Amino acid sequence: MALTPDAFAWVADLVRKRSAIQLPVGKEYLVESRLLSLAKEHQLAEVQDFIAKARAGSDERLLRAIVEALTTNETSWFRDNIPFASLRQKIVPDLLAARSRPVHLRFWSAACSTGQEPYSLAMALTEALPPQVTFEILATDLSQQVLDRAASGRYSQLEVNRGLPAPLMVRYFTRSGAEWEINQTLRSRVTFRQHNLMDPPPVVGRMDVILLRNVLIYFDLPTKQAILRRMAGVLADDGTLLLGAAETTIGLDTSWERVQIGSGSGYRKKLATPAKALSTPTTSTAGRVPTQPGRLKLSPAPPRGGS
Ligand SMILES: C[S@@+](CC[C@H](N)C(=O)[O-])C[C@H]1O[C@@H](n2cnc3c(N)ncnc32)[C@H](O)[C@@H]1O
Repeated sequence: MALTPDAFAWVADLVRKRSAIQLPVGKEYLVESRLLSLAKEHQLAEVQDFIAKARAGSDERLLRAIVEALTTNETSWFRDNIPFASLRQKIVPDLLAARSRPVHLRFWSAACSTGQEPYSLAMALTEALPPQVTFEILATDLSQQVLDRAASGRYSQLEVNRGLPAPLMVRYFTRSGAEWEINQTLRSRVTFRQHNLMDPPPVVGRMDVILLRNVLIYFDLPTKQAILRRMAGVLADDGTLLLGAAETTIGLDTSWERVQIGSGSGYRKKLATPAKALSTPTTSTAGRVPTQPGRLKLSPAPPRGGS
């Protein structure tokens, strides 16, 4: 039985209100395919009947499961490569040059899916940073299901085959049955936390680099603009925002400028008095932008389920 327009509109409205993800007419097939296994879990053969059940009750867990099922969690190790090269070759060396010792760097992988992005970052930083420099990574996503998978640090052979270089696999993973498990040291660098990008940032203090990749594409213009404003509020003045290959702030928010970083690009806040330019690294502390030292404080966790 095909979805009725009314059932589809109810799902699209629920998903938009709770995640900002847009499901325009024409995405009925997506709703049907994503909700089929949930319907079966509830002993219902038809998605249409499952939606009717969800609409009739007020089972918060069911509503949350529907929203999570409609998120797209596609990801891979070192996705697109260039942002990770930019971090190693330019962004991190410039931050090290600008900061007073001891240096502690803070990264936020917003919309981290099943963890490949923050763990790739943790590997890249472990490989690149001198041991006296410490770092921490906050990794957030709307979906508790993907966060649980990420926090488990376990990946199938198929998943590790997607972009994880063999030397890094040998160095940071051990085989555990049919899966590969990421080592404890690397895992301890990443804090996973549920966070809806529609809500205020979950951090108190400044982030040095924010990865907000391959998620803005799901939102409408006002949502993208609001998220970019919130990101500007928690990014250090000399920090960098990294977006997905198909994403940009251009045409969305004039308070950002695109900067070329090697063969890639990032975004920096336009400042009245510009922070040190990425293209002119120096070991001098003149013009250094003060950031709060020490580990990042997280604001209290909101109730599960988003807004
Ligand atoms: C395509 S994945 C991108 C993963 C990773 N950043 C990458 O580039 O490989 C998009 C992620 O955004 C998350 N997401 C969607 N809407 C969100 C929202 N409103 N708040 C937080 N995360 C959201 C999804 O759950 C999904 O895991």
